[in-house]
Amino acid sequence: MCYAIPGKITGFQDKKVIIDYFGEKRYAHNDFVKVKTGDYIYAQGGFVINVVPEKEAREILEFWKETFFELRKVDLRLSKLEGKSGASKRTRAILDAALEGRKIKFEEYVHLLSLEDTEDKEYLYKVANFIRRKYHKNACCVHGIIEFSNHCSNNCLYCGIRKDNASLPRYRMTEAEILDTVKSAVDTYGFKALVLQSGEDPEYDVDRIAKLIKRIRTENDVLIFISVGEVGKTGLKKFYDAGARGTLIRFETSNENIYARLHPGDSLMRRMKEIEEAKKTGFLVLTGGLVGFPGQTDEDTVKDILNAAALAPEMYSFGPFIPHPQTPFAEKQSPPLDKILKTIALLRIADPMGKIVSTTALETLAPVEGRNRGFMAGANSMMLNLTPDNYRKHYQIYPGRIHENVSVDLQVREAVSDLRKLGRAPTDLGAGV
Ligand code: 5AD
Repeated sequence: MCYAIPGKITGFQDKKVIIDYFGEKRYAHNDFVKVKTGDYIYAQGGFVINVVPEKEAREILEFWKETFFELRKVDLRLSKLEGKSGASKRTRAILDAALEGRKIKFEEYVHLLSLEDTEDKEYLYKVANFIRRKYHKNACCVHGIIEFSNHCSNNCLYCGIRKDNASLPRYRMTEAEILDTVKSAVDTYGFKALVLQSGEDPEYDVDRIAKLIKRIRTENDVLIFISVGEVGKTGLKKFYDAGARGTLIRFETSNENIYARLHPGDSLMRRMKEIEEAKKTGFLVLTGGLVGFPGQTDEDTVKDILNAAALAPEMYSFGPFIPHPQTPFAEKQSPPLDKILKTIALLRIADPMGKIVSTTALETLAPVEGRNRGFMAGANSMMLNLTPDNYRKHYQIYPGRIHENVSVDLQVREAVSDLRKLGRAPTDLGAGV
């Protein structure tokens, strides 16, 4: 199994290496390993991860060559924009502007997000998928996520692992358990990028996590994203120096009032500062928010989309709010599936170059079809849950998470089979910039 295709270094430009993938040019930073022209390497998220011995690289490339072009054909067929759309005149006018790369106005985004008519919505998804293919071809990022502790000192009103949820069994993986999980993800399943996530757990402070990152980086060729809430400028710097290169931190909502109401003791300003600081430190930033919070309007969600795009993140992660029974929001409702699909499509229009994840929460909202519908509405990334089985069910940010009881092995097989059906390749080639 392989989540990356080796590329060949053809030269250097500024501080980046130039890589050839089946005749296409890509660029990557090289922080970690010594490389020279002619080397075969794996790159992920725009970073060179490791050098691959030439013989091994050639074998993998041989295996991929036919499959890769076959998959591209399927993707091309599925993302064509042919035939006359039955969408309304206004919708078509806005989407035609998007296709031409013209700027879409705020109220036009709101119009698209509030579409109800099936033909209108289908045309929106088709346009988004077309734009996705134009910039990213059929590359689909597959990251793994390890949720290493569900202890949390925060009390976010909507989150199932909030401090006041006394009925949730709490766990904290040891360093040895985390290292084992990482090793198996990298060696057995071939993951090249992993997210380490937890609640804001005082026992896992910045120094302890930084030490762990360093150890992981010394023992594994893998890109590490960290997702442990707010740690401030010094904390971020420690993670970066230890070898992490990405952070996953959502701003959740860009409506200050909703933010303040949902996050006791925190403010949107602090959250945005943290995200901006992460960018300044040099991290790849994965960010986004929740759709369907009680009191949230379409205008709020459009602001979230534009706010996220203004951050120019590596990847967008927007999922539905799902009520958790042991929270003050137990009686609230999730948004309909198409609200999430429209959000993904609008993100794709707002930022053609960014990666967009088809989230687990979306799959939970619509099991079986959710993830693929996300991919057909502009998404091009996914995360598989690698948290050990005995802990996974307790990382209950919301109930009934889709992969709660599915082994990593099966998740990987299902993901690959889904991607094949859609003509996508589980690779991270970037958008060619
Ligand atoms: N529904 C959906 N997503 C949730 N999260 C927390 N609680 C919920 C919920 N009830 C998300 C937040 C957080 C991420 C780790 O989990 O967006 O950033």
